[in-house]
Amino acid sequence: MLNVTVLVSGGGTNLQAIIDAMEAGRIRNARIVRVISNNPGAYALERAAKAGVDAACISPKDYPGRPAYYEALADALREAGTDLVVLAGFMVVLPETIIREYRGRIINVHPSLIPSFCGTGFYGLKVHEEALKRGVKVTGATVHFVDEGTDTGPIILQKAVEVRDDDTPETLQRRVMEDAEWQIMPQAIDLIAGGRVEIRDGRACVME
Ligand code: GAR
Repeated sequence: MLNVTVLVSGGGTNLQAIIDAMEAGRIRNARIVRVISNNPGAYALERAAKAGVDAACISPKDYPGRPAYYEALADALREAGTDLVVLAGFMVVLPETIIREYRGRIINVHPSLIPSFCGTGFYGLKVHEEALKRGVKVTGATVHFVDEGTDTGPIILQKAVEVRDDDTPETLQRRVMEDAEWQIMPQAIDLIAGGRVEIRDGRACVME
């Protein structure tokens, strides 16, 4: 059984998609052992509580500096017996220490087809604003392993979503979530729990 810790900052719809997929048996051999938010007001914490999942807020504001905050986060991951760290709308950049400790065991969902509209400054609604500004006809979502860069790790799954002429950043965000993120994030966890994802030469390979 793969022990998954989900890190969140906001609404937690991706967390909900993971919870629902586990309940429906679409994610096998995995369970959420803990949900951690950096933001005490995150609705994701309520979703976790409703699902009976251990949830905690570890906020940088409660620590004298970043090193102490990162240490508390690392301790919380260890205490939960974490095998896989899932970043589901987590708006804090992880330190190298955690990335090293969990190399190949941290995944993130990003609301675009990487390498478009990603990197520093591209998060949340901003990604969709930029996609609309550029006039792309297709966007989507990506689940990837996390390395030391921003959105640069090996890509596990991607799903395309069409952009409509009358889209606003909000309508596009919603469709990318529904049609892409909420599907490929649970799917990626199921594949990893099934031992079907390998990193070879810096690329993630999914085995049939
Ligand atoms: C999601 O769209 C996720 O892809 C994005 O934040 C949103 C969180 O929503 N993440 C990033 O932009 C990371 N760079 P949620 O809290 O409802 O899951």
